[in-house]
Amino acid sequence: MSGKIDTREFSITDHDAAVEIWQRVEGIEIAEGDDRKGIAEFLARNPRLSRVAMDGPAIVGVALCGHDGRRGHIYHLAVDPAYQGRGLGKRLLDECLEGLRRVGAQRVIILVASDNQRGSAFWKHRGWEEIPGAVPMGIDV
Ligand SMILES: CC(C)(COP(=O)(O)OP(=O)(O)OC[C@H]1O[C@@H](n2cnc3c(N)ncnc32)[C@H](O)[C@@H]1OP(=O)(O)O)[C@@H](O)C(=O)NCCC(=O)NCCS
Repeated sequence: MSGKIDTREFSITDHDAAVEIWQRVEGIEIAEGDDRKGIAEFLARNPRLSRVAMDGPAIVGVALCGHDGRRGHIYHLAVDPAYQGRGLGKRLLDECLEGLRRVGAQRVIILVASDNQRGSAFWKHRGWEEIPGAVPMGIDV
């Protein structure tokens, strides 16, 4: 651990390292669209929004960020357990929100697994609120 952490845009060459962190932390489920091709398409549709944190050459934090022209979305925010509690999650989140403001998003939505109490507590601590009356739904197409 060098102490100096840099952040930069998520590049598709970071995919393997990102998957490795997503698999290592609790609370993130790797799903359809998270393979290399799916993430490459997501990054191409949402340039300059997703972020990684680096300790030297090692990826130690990651956040996927995009928008659909109306709402912003942040997915799979994760920090390597050895680097948690040092402000990195907040830093990546703030950078995502800054990018979404830049592209004109006014509201940002996330999905948190109902059993991810630690993740929920992080978002609430950062000022996010549950959406009363909304139930997430989905269908495979
Ligand atoms: C959630 C996660 C990204 C937070 O990253 P982190 O680098 O440890 O968090 P930070 O150090 O940036 O914390 C930022 C602030 O949130 C607070 N915080 C962090 N985790 C918290 C928690 N579980 N509950 C309440 N507050 C929390 C910190 O105390 C800090 O507060 P401050 O700004 O008042 O000083 C990280 O714990 C993680 O990767 N968890 C597993 C994956 C996950 O659940 N991701 C969310 C998926 S929806």
